Amino acid sequence: MKRIYIGNDHTAIEMKNAIKKHLIENGYEVVDVGNNDGNSCNYANIGITLAEAVVADKDSKGIALCGTGIGISIAANKVQGARAGLVYEVQTAELTRQHNNANILATGARLIAVDKAILLVDTFLNTEFEGGRHHERVGTLDEYNK
Ligand code: RB5
Repeated sequence: MKRIYIGNDHTAIEMKNAIKKHLIENGYEVVDVGNNDGNSCNYANIGITLAEAVVADKDSKGIALCGTGIGISIAANKVQGARAGLVYEVQTAELTRQHNNANILATGARLIAVDKAILLVDTFLNTEFEGGRHHERVGTLDEYNK
């Protein structure tokens, strides 16, 4: 079973719960790294925790949610081996898998509807890395700071 880690700040609890339910109904194992209490919290800590979990669990993927998706994606991308793509559209959800081999999808709960986020997640999880010319470029990302 494919394992998906999901993390969010206080702005994205409703979106997180809807995505979680959808993924569980579709046979995924979901690990929720929080936030769940709704109190104002620091997206940076959650993004880093999420990214560390994804990198440590080979072949898993992550979903990172904050108000815009910007802060939590910046945080996740600090972790060696994490490749978080910030997307709001289906086409970029697809391209960040095909070209960047993104292992984390980030998006913004204040900017898009929950149904749209679910569509982005499905697209992301069902799209393969194209490899080829993209291997070397992704390798450069992963090697930096090693
Ligand atoms: C929280 O107010 C907000 O700053 C956060 O959710 C996120 O959008 C940061 O990038």
